[in-house]
Amino acid sequence: MPEPSRLDHVRRPEGPSGLRVTLEMLRGRQSPNEIFEAVARAHGPVAHYVLAGEHVYLLSDPDVVVDVFLTHARDVMKGRGLQAARPLLGNGLLTSEGEFHVRQRRLAQPAFHRGRIESYAAQMVTETRRHETRWADGAEVDMVEEMTSLTLAIVGRTLFGTDLTGDARTFADTLAELLSGFGQLSALGSERLVRTLPKGRRLLSRVEDLDVVVQRIIDEHRADVAAGAGRDDLLTWMIRARDDESAAEFGTSMTDEQLRDEVMTLVLAGHETTAMALSWAWWLLSANPAVADRLHEELVGVLGAGSSRRPPAYADLPALPWTHAVVAETIRLYPPAWIMGRRLLTDLRIGGWDVPSGSIVLGSPWILHRDPGLWDRASSFVPERWLGPDGRYDESAPGVARGAWIPFGFGNRRCIGEQFAWTEAVLVLAALAGRWRPALVPGSVVETQAAVTLRPKHGLPMTLHERRTADGT
Ligand code: HEM
Repeated sequence: MPEPSRLDHVRRPEGPSGLRVTLEMLRGRQSPNEIFEAVARAHGPVAHYVLAGEHVYLLSDPDVVVDVFLTHARDVMKGRGLQAARPLLGNGLLTSEGEFHVRQRRLAQPAFHRGRIESYAAQMVTETRRHETRWADGAEVDMVEEMTSLTLAIVGRTLFGTDLTGDARTFADTLAELLSGFGQLSALGSERLVRTLPKGRRLLSRVEDLDVVVQRIIDEHRADVAAGAGRDDLLTWMIRARDDESAAEFGTSMTDEQLRDEVMTLVLAGHETTAMALSWAWWLLSANPAVADRLHEELVGVLGAGSSRRPPAYADLPALPWTHAVVAETIRLYPPAWIMGRRLLTDLRIGGWDVPSGSIVLGSPWILHRDPGLWDRASSFVPERWLGPDGRYDESAPGVARGAWIPFGFGNRRCIGEQFAWTEAVLVLAALAGRWRPALVPGSVVETQAAVTLRPKHGLPMTLHERRTADGT
């Protein structure tokens, strides 16, 4: 970290007073995503303020964001956002740095290859159908809870190959409690502080309970791998992974501690983000009946209707362009990972400004995805923008600048679960929207709450309506 005296004498871009930003956050009238958006619109591509003693630069120009997050990926490290959750996540992919991160990423990658995703796809559909048995015509549900418990079940099944009963169920419940606990402490941005507070200490003792369960799961999987039993889950693929000839640690694999950290990281990173994408999608569909009807038409065309309706499969994905477009447009407007932070490891010239080592830089999908200078009808829900002239889903169809569309991040820190998430979101929607038309309960207020992920602040109370078909089923 540079000397504070040096930091104090650098010429900086304009920005709001840090005190005003803090007060606005505390008042809670606007969510942090809205506060940051207002700062970006008022102060231009690089805005500066001081928050909790840190010099923060909010970047809202796509070229500048690409320059820092991608071109200078080696000159930055992760910001402080997830530091408070380190006792839970350890040194997993989300939180690790440098060579260690590169190696972990190399070892974890095979578990996310296309062939693997194809086999997880079948499990995603199985879990969705199992979940669907709880749904009844006319029932009122909180869609956020529904989608969170579904994606947690999916990650449990694909990661451990279990259906989250018994031990694993306790695991899921404890984890959910810890995630929310550490989420509340994440604003502290300091692992040390978390370890000293009574609430932090209570959470840590729960982490120890969880560690016992994770260790047992790892032991069972290791025993199966040693016995040559062919499990096909993410954990088994990570246990089998070995460094290749190009690596200094040729032939070595992950230790139990590394596996534990990756398991926790994947459960966290792998369920809440997709749950939020799906929750926002249901709400947007409810508010845009013509889009929902077109989705239903596509699903009937591909999967059939009524008693001849079949569940979707991985092979159906290319035939579902509208379903993909709905997901893309949802995460454009409501990016679950709404902000990414980095700390500079060296002085950098950013957007014409000299930014000293130690500063924090922020790039926000929320701000870039909603910039009217970058997107046509930026604040409207327009899935059509994602279809090419041939009617296929095409990520380049909107024709926006590189860096204007960043729901899964960049380069070496890009989401390792991106294909997993796409497959899951499209298959879950396809499995449910052919039969169900959830509608927001009238009078419900929908607002954003920007914590680790972008959530609906008051949940999403929705009534489940079953679509009737000509054959009455
Ligand atoms: C719609 C769903 C998802 C969204 C929007 C999303 C978004 C992101 C973003 C933006 C990052 C980069 C964060 C940064 O650079 O600071 C990231 C990283 C990551 N994501 Fe996702 N994610 C999703 C689903 C998933 C799933 C399903 C998994 C695993 C099964 C997953 C695992 C990870 C991991 C492990 C990282 C850290 C990668 C690294 O730094 O090497 N994510 N995700």
